[in-house]
Amino acid sequence: AKAIHATLIHSLSPTNLQVLPNTLLTLSSSGTILSLQPNIPPSAIPSILAQQNIPLTSLSPGQFLIPGFVDTHNHAPQWMQRGLGQGMHILDWLDGITFPNEAKFADPAHAEKVYEKLVRGMLRQGVTTASYYGSLHGEATRVLASMCLKAGQRALIGKCNMDRNAPAFYCEASAEESIRETRECIRHIRSIDPEGVQIRPVLTPRFAISCTAELLQSLGDMAREDDSLAIQTHFNEAAQEINATMALFPSFTNEADLYSSFGLLTRKSILAHCTIMTEYEMEKLRELGCGVAHCPTANMTVGGGFMAAPVKEFLRRGVSVGLGTDSGGGYSASVGDAMRHALVTSYARDALYPKFGGAEKDGSKADGRGGETLGLEEVFYMATRGGAKVVGFEEKVGGFGVGMEFDALVVDLRDEVGGVNVPLDEGDAPERMLEKFVMTGDDRNIVRVYVKGRVVHGEE
Ligand code: GUN
Ligand code: FE
Repeated sequence: AKAIHATLIHSLSPTNLQVLPNTLLTLSSSGTILSLQPNIPPSAIPSILAQQNIPLTSLSPGQFLIPGFVDTHNHAPQWMQRGLGQGMHILDWLDGITFPNEAKFADPAHAEKVYEKLVRGMLRQGVTTASYYGSLHGEATRVLASMCLKAGQRALIGKCNMDRNAPAFYCEASAEESIRETRECIRHIRSIDPEGVQIRPVLTPRFAISCTAELLQSLGDMAREDDSLAIQTHFNEAAQEINATMALFPSFTNEADLYSSFGLLTRKSILAHCTIMTEYEMEKLRELGCGVAHCPTANMTVGGGFMAAPVKEFLRRGVSVGLGTDSGGGYSASVGDAMRHALVTSYARDALYPKFGGAEKDGSKADGRGGETLGLEEVFYMATRGGAKVVGFEEKVGGFGVGMEFDALVVDLRDEVGGVNVPLDEGDAPERMLEKFVMTGDDRNIVRVYVKGRVVHGEE
């Protein structure tokens, strides 16, 4: 058990930030938050902890705690290809850059080497929970699962399913083989973390273009037989992809009908991108309770979407949205970058698409923002509690509360640390410190990372 005295900032809802100043937290030995008392002056702590012989960590002024970040969409084997092929259209980028890179994970030793760097790099950037696509290889994907568990990162881990429209050197031989390997990965993940406390399996059909109808149906059947199974896929990412999908499945007129007909749209579905959405599809995702992984970095740089998802509209309708880095389609694996890009792309959307509400920018709205424009509270929510909801971890993480598990980042903006990049000023209130961190901070300012109360990056 341990105690921490700090100012906490977390998100209660997309529009509601909460600051808990001078808060005394106590944690159980397994990392559950036992108590949380705001407004406790340092002088009062000894008497409160009098009977408990537990170590106390106190943060300094200029430091504060936020929940760990959640990356709802990340391709583990693309860690080494980040930055390559920016500006390419999706299918060309897959063939030219991605498939040759992912094929290397046939060698488990290569997977071991890259995944060690990946998990360390993600934790360092404060990503305490990630939803990972693996390569199509069962063994490499099991290596990833074991690595996350050992390093202390929470993760959904999916062996990628793809049995057509890919080069022979990177394509599964049959739907049966793909399903057999998938079952083996699920079994492995559940054997090393039976309660799914830290790592969980996720069904991962890459997208409809690279899966036969037989494979999509078998995966949908698995999801129906076991409703605890999460599902992730790419959804309405870009015009090139949507056109190719409709050509392969001519009996459908949209991807929502296509994926749902195979049983792949459930309350546990994590749909990456959702950039080009009709009214009909938005409503369908809302009714089915699917979550959206908004990946603004990738949307503007790879894939040919060049258009950010209608995030404000999802939030207005109550569709769950989290942020994804889509690393390596997104050149950055930082959720900080994803927050900034979510803001910037929302401004662009507001300016370029007046029919979506940009016209309101003429000053009629009290907050001075247009109808498509996201605010700090919304991107911070998506990076934390919203993302936790999308990946199914909302009961454990995403915010601070008694009974939740302690996944948190110590943000440090003090002169000797943050003075390099974050313009902390005397008298900045916690909300302002958070705004400055989100807009100008990076991993230099994340000096300690906790998952389940355990320090997984930085000094205790
Ligand atoms: N669609 C199918 N595969 C991928 C991928 O690896 N990245 C992105 N961004 N889109 C995809
Ligand atoms: Fe992706």
